Amino acid sequence: MDKPLKLYFIPYLAAGHMIPLCGIASLFASRGHFVTIITTPLNAKILPKSNNFNVQTFQFPSQQVGLPEGIENLSGVTDVDSGYKIYYAATLLREQVENFVEQHPPDCIMADFCFPWVDEVANKFHIPRFAFNGFSLFTLCAMESLKSHPLPENASGPFSIPNFPDNVVIISTPFMESKSFVDPHLNIALKSRGFIINSFVELDGEKYVEYYEKIIGHKAWHLGPASLQLFEIASAIDSSGYDFIWVVPEKMGKENESEEEKENWLPKGFEERNKGMIVRGWAPQVVILDHPAVGAFLTHCGWNSVVEAVSAGVPMITWPVHSDQFYNEKLITQVRGIGVEVGVDEWNTAAFRDMKMLVKRDHIEKALRRLMGGGDEAVQIRQRAQKFAKIVPSVVQEGGSSYENMTTLINELKRLRDDKIFN
Ligand SMILES: *[C@@H]1O[C@H](CO)[C@@H](O)[C@H](O)[C@H]1NC(C)=O
Ligand SMILES: *[C@@H]1O[C@H](CO)[C@@H](O)[C@H](O)[C@H]1NC(C)=O
Ligand SMILES: *[C@@H]1O[C@H](CO)[C@@H](O)[C@H](O)[C@H]1NC(C)=O
Ligand SMILES: *[C@@H]1O[C@H](CO)[C@@H](O)[C@H](O)[C@H]1NC(C)=O
Repeated sequence: MDKPLKLYFIPYLAAGHMIPLCGIASLFASRGHFVTIITTPLNAKILPKSNNFNVQTFQFPSQQVGLPEGIENLSGVTDVDSGYKIYYAATLLREQVENFVEQHPPDCIMADFCFPWVDEVANKFHIPRFAFNGFSLFTLCAMESLKSHPLPENASGPFSIPNFPDNVVIISTPFMESKSFVDPHLNIALKSRGFIINSFVELDGEKYVEYYEKIIGHKAWHLGPASLQLFEIASAIDSSGYDFIWVVPEKMGKENESEEEKENWLPKGFEERNKGMIVRGWAPQVVILDHPAVGAFLTHCGWNSVVEAVSAGVPMITWPVHSDQFYNEKLITQVRGIGVEVGVDEWNTAAFRDMKMLVKRDHIEKALRRLMGGGDEAVQIRQRAQKFAKIVPSVVQEGGSSYENMTTLINELKRLRDDKIFN
């Protein structure tokens, strides 16, 4: 058998980035390659105990960035400034990682785009590098298109994504603040050999694979969906009897110490009045979505959640909040027709900030009726969603699109290693 590849994965210090990239790492490991995940001690804790990869940890520089001990990822912070401290701490990991890579050079590094310095480290030691950020390829295409055909600075209101394969209309213009963070990182990611995508070609569409390669001039490899069960999520929920399950962040409403204030974000008596269930922190979303009683998924359109809903064949009601979520929404609703929009027209800068305007109650009711009302549209949306769910199990198996994308990538990496043609 061929000599296995030695692969390093560097996930960003946030569960939403870490879980899918480690899932993909595990797919490489399951094909016989030596995989090492590079992270910090507390982040290593969420990795499954029984795994097929190695974990290399480096101390998180809490003191240097002014964060309390014990906070090493975005789940632990509640404001934008602390978010930047996590980011800054991530840049300070460079020296330790660079020494490690120099002493034990891998055949390839796959790193989150929030570690832009990996570009320099990989070039310094002539190691092929691939980028990851947990976005869909559709979103990457939209962002790249807007970079090369920028909207006027004073633009406001709805706009069409310029020079795009489909006519996609976004309801309001993105915040410059988030663009000014994402765009420079994307530019560095574009210097890598390609983007790793936690999705499958059928969901983003061949059109966008081609668009990304020919128009944007960069490669993308669809290797997912990476199985998140892998993360030993307990099947604790028996959803029978509930009309909805609402998952809220652990920290929501807990900023203040007083017991009384803690639950103030919920209307009084809400939990008693409604036949719903509120879950704090990480919910076993995959388990919930797979339950046959689930009729629709109200989602903020984070890509991991979208992938889970698609895998479960559950139609979505979309309520994006920030960043890539607005583009993901359009893929779900306008392009693939597997969900309906609530009609959010306020683009938030980050998950931490409060919305200035709330989505009106009648908008939510309208979206719910469109999806649950049993009309023709609802039936078609449900059928399309179920069609996707049927193909998902096969895409990561031999002969499936993601399996074959990974085979091509593995062969390319072996060629690079064996021919030593990488400069
Ligand atoms: C994040 O960091 C906390 C400690 O602050 C740790 O308990 C947790 O396991 C880490 N991972 C995630 C996914 O939150
Ligand atoms: C935006 O700026 C351009 C040129 O700077 C100007 O022609 C246009 O009228 C402005 N539009 C609005 C809506 O202010
Ligand atoms: C927490 O307390 C501060 C100061 O009293 C207040 O401004 C803030 O709105 C409170 N936050 C929540 C979520 O109740
Ligand atoms: C991934 O698979 C799709 C569908 O089979 C194919 O069109 C695409 O070229 C592949 N991508 C790469 C980078 O090989």
